[in-house]
Amino acid sequence: SAAEKGGWDSFMDKEIHEDPAAVQRTLLGRFDKNGDVALDEVRIDEHDFKAIDKIIVIACGTAAYAGMVAKYAIEHWVRIPVEIELAHEFRYRDPILTPRTLVVAISQSGETMDTLMALRHAREQGSKVLAICNTQGASIPRESDAVLYTHAGPEVAVASTKAFVAQITAAYLLGLYLAQVKGAMFRDEIRHILDSLKNMPRKIQWMLDTQTKTIHQAAERMLNAQSFLFLGRHVGYPVALEGALKLKEIAYTFTEGFAAGELKHGPIALVDEGEPVVFIVPPERGRNVLHAKVLSGIEEVKARGAFIIAVAEEGDKDVERYADVVFWRPACPTLMSPLVDVVPLQLFAMDMAKLKGYDVDKPRNLAKSVTVE
Ligand code: G6P
Repeated sequence: SAAEKGGWDSFMDKEIHEDPAAVQRTLLGRFDKNGDVALDEVRIDEHDFKAIDKIIVIACGTAAYAGMVAKYAIEHWVRIPVEIELAHEFRYRDPILTPRTLVVAISQSGETMDTLMALRHAREQGSKVLAICNTQGASIPRESDAVLYTHAGPEVAVASTKAFVAQITAAYLLGLYLAQVKGAMFRDEIRHILDSLKNMPRKIQWMLDTQTKTIHQAAERMLNAQSFLFLGRHVGYPVALEGALKLKEIAYTFTEGFAAGELKHGPIALVDEGEPVVFIVPPERGRNVLHAKVLSGIEEVKARGAFIIAVAEEGDKDVERYADVVFWRPACPTLMSPLVDVVPLQLFAMDMAKLKGYDVDKPRNLAKSVTVE
């Protein structure tokens, strides 16, 4: 009903606008009085956490892309290897699991059968499983050794939106907690990162407040596009994959997401006059070598006549010069950028789907939770 949608005309609309609150609520109550990360609800004792020498994230769909983002952050912060694998692939390939491996199962619904089967397999092999889940008491958290709930609130629209930013937030908290317990970073470094994380709800809100019109106009302009390419590097790569997924799920548009560095190894052959290409441009201009690399990718496809949509940091003059449309992000550290960068891609997919007259909450052929293998 209209009341359930809180005045929005779809659940997806409502839920995208809850992205800031989803991050905020997932951070709430996760610190002790000294400001350190305190995950008391996660009933794995410090001793066991200290012993962890590898993390394997298992998930499907959007949750898997959240896991991919977390890999970049956790490896950088904790200096232990993090693998991310689609749950259905993991289960059937004889993965290497030891009691020191922490398996992190990410699932919004907590009922995805592929993920549940993978976590059962991991536990049978003696590994500890921690669930990152948005649904209290669902099968996945129930069968895990520990659970870190995302507090995004119920997600109704089939295409996942606010759960994604909440999953990244939860995985980041886990990473910072591990860094704390293992002494992998100085306390003030951790504090500094936490401060950046706590600023993200405000930055996402700025994106929603200022970029919506540009995004809508871009969707109107691109309505007849037959396909889209999404490109990003580093954490921008999983964001590109997620942006491509949103557009295929609800606007039924053929999309592919690639690592931007892969462009010259294949995808550039697809670029023709007018082909829409979405670039996630890393922040920290001047200080970030990846910025220049992504920019040269933009130049390459521009030279072949592509229509360029970029997500880039406010005031990025280089991007402004080449891109046909820019969705601006407020300045933030690279590892935090996925939390804002995904937002315009969620809105863009929703606008495209609405303009095409589709039901954005209930896309054809898809289910909110897939309870069969
Ligand atoms: C389905 C949904 C996706 C979701 C995936 C994983 O395919 O359509 O939106 O990302 O399942 O769901 P989960 O509940 O495990 O996060």
